[in-house]
Amino acid sequence: MRVLGIETSCDETAVAIVETTAAAPHPVGRILANVVYSQLTEHRRFGGVVPEIAARAHLERIDGLVEEALGTAGLDLADLDGIAATGGPGLIGGVMVGVMTAKALAFAHEKPFIAVNHLEGHALSVRLTEDVTFPYLLLLVSGGHCQLLTVRGPGDFTRLGTTIDDAVGECFDKTAKLLGLGFPGGPAVERAAAGGNPGRFSLPRPMWRKPGCDFSFSGLKTAVRQTVERLEAGDRSAIADLCASFQRTVGDVLADRCANAFAMSPSPTLVVAGGVAANLYLRRRLEDLAARHGARLVAPPVKLCTDNGAMIAWAGIERLRLGMVDALDFKPRPRWPLHSDSAS
Ligand code: KG4
Ligand code: ZN
Repeated sequence: MRVLGIETSCDETAVAIVETTAAAPHPVGRILANVVYSQLTEHRRFGGVVPEIAARAHLERIDGLVEEALGTAGLDLADLDGIAATGGPGLIGGVMVGVMTAKALAFAHEKPFIAVNHLEGHALSVRLTEDVTFPYLLLLVSGGHCQLLTVRGPGDFTRLGTTIDDAVGECFDKTAKLLGLGFPGGPAVERAAAGGNPGRFSLPRPMWRKPGCDFSFSGLKTAVRQTVERLEAGDRSAIADLCASFQRTVGDVLADRCANAFAMSPSPTLVVAGGVAANLYLRRRLEDLAARHGARLVAPPVKLCTDNGAMIAWAGIERLRLGMVDALDFKPRPRWPLHSDSAS
């Protein structure tokens, strides 16, 4: 089975072709092409993603990237078994570009069309490369989301908790912006933190030791801003120390929430996915936490943590195997919670 996946929900225009060979219970995925055009230069001078610019850039690039992916894989559209695209949630202009492109290809070449929830793409991506069986606990941490879920299969999720304000990736991005480290902030903060003293600044840990699995990051964001305002000029280690302290605080909070998730829904596997899962320090913290609960932590390769087409193609394969395809009148969904998706 071979599926082409399109991802255009934020600021990466991405197309991939993924093939699966083995049958149930767990097929093995092979990435035949995975091209990503990152719109970083378009958005950098604004310090964040500008939706109109993103939509236009997706439109300009998407056809070329589909051709490039097919060329890399050495395939024609006729060789595919399905066309998948992110159907939401995300910036609606971009999602429309991806969905329209996928529908047009599916219609013209008489292939099934699969609308993939972007979060489901992240949630299932680990199974493309790792031997992970359902059900598993999932910590989904990205620029727009921070959730704990039980994953039983495509379209079959129970949400244990979510953020009541900001997403954790947003908090990384804001911290980087305040410190002048550039955009996107996550990788910059991680690099700066590597040489810093995590014990120097004491920052608040919202929701720490509270019952349940919800998150909150706005208080931490404010505390980082206030700390930056108080820094003295010439304090050369301040940036590294603050990044390290911030990262440790985030690690404390994520581990605390995951401990509660293990109590609510015991599981031999904790999966971390989404852009923030690329952070190696946070992975180590979660590895330790999982081990304390007799579980293992599994994460996608770093390159597949941030947005990409391979995770959409893979989720397309998982759905296609179960006969879960979509009609060509599917409407892009700017909001699309995972846990209420069980009927689709
Ligand atoms: O999943 P993703 O690519 O896009 C969304 O669906 O939101 O996640 C992007 C987020 C950004 O906030 C980015 O700063 C963060 O993931 N991120 C990281 C790292 N790499 C990306 N955060 C912490 N450490 C990293 N190494
Ligand atoms: Zn994402």
